[in-house]
Amino acid sequence: MPSHAGTQPTDALITAERLNRVYHRPRTSLTRPGAAVHALRDVSLTVRRGERHGIVGESGSGKSTLLRLLCALDQPTSGSIRFDGQEITGRPERRLRFLRENLQIVFQDPMSSLDPRMRVRDLVAEPLTALGLPVGDRVAELLDAVGLPAEAAGRYPHQFSGGQRQRIAIARALAPRPKVLVADEPVSALDVSVRGQILNLLADLVDELGLTLVFVSHDLSVVRHVCETVSVMRQGEIVEGGLVDDVWAEPAHPYTRELLAAVPTLEGFA
Ligand SMILES: Nc1ncnc2c1ncn2[C@@H]1O[C@H](COP(=O)(O)OP(=O)(O)OP(=O)(O)O)[C@@H](O)[C@H]1O
Ligand SMILES: [Mg+2]
Repeated sequence: MPSHAGTQPTDALITAERLNRVYHRPRTSLTRPGAAVHALRDVSLTVRRGERHGIVGESGSGKSTLLRLLCALDQPTSGSIRFDGQEITGRPERRLRFLRENLQIVFQDPMSSLDPRMRVRDLVAEPLTALGLPVGDRVAELLDAVGLPAEAAGRYPHQFSGGQRQRIAIARALAPRPKVLVADEPVSALDVSVRGQILNLLADLVDELGLTLVFVSHDLSVVRHVCETVSVMRQGEIVEGGLVDDVWAEPAHPYTRELLAAVPTLEGFA
């Protein structure tokens, strides 16, 4: 569903307002405090139900910081985030159940996001057991949905290729039937030859399940492949945003033009 002007505010699923996040580097001198890093500056963002929103920007622009705040894995220094109408900032973990059930994350590197000592069956079931939800036939269903054979359930992450491990991570994220999938550079650690397959899988699943997607990448051509809207980040600020095809065709900000000039176009898939 494209985001369009005139949409009712109730369509907003995630609303972030004036987010700031200041990190304090460890002090390296007895006389001076550690340097402050202003990772986000007054960032406001709305993601509507069913929207596939990309966040693009160079390394260090604040993409992962913003994503961690949206997932309540970190707290902003100031600002507000509402998920489905409920404020999530400042809440203790025990009051974030609605968010944990409805928003799941796929990280960049499946090798470090999947516990190597756990079998795939348990990895995929873990979000369900953690939330006290029944597992039933869900693991088999999910492995099938991500294109892995049923026998994968009994194996360990190291017995799979990088692309297959990211399929496991996607199956795991989908386990509690979330409304929102959040992905932080989900293909950049993968071999170039499998990136397209994993992006296509993600796009197909988001489509079939009617999910809302928040997708971070440093590469606008990757964002364009899976998202309809985009925010461009630079030095902790959103400098440009809108429909990804418009930004791609006519970038308004010089920084976006630089980003576009720097990215190789994706090959191997339409
Ligand atoms: N835990 C932290 N402590 C101190 N500084 C941090 C911390 N996390 C991030 N930063 C700093 O905040 C800024 C934004 O970092 P962030 O990881 O959000 O960028 P990014 O856009 O995700 O970059 P990349 O594309 O490299 O993943 C950077 O200057 C980074 O060094
Ligand atoms: Mg990052």
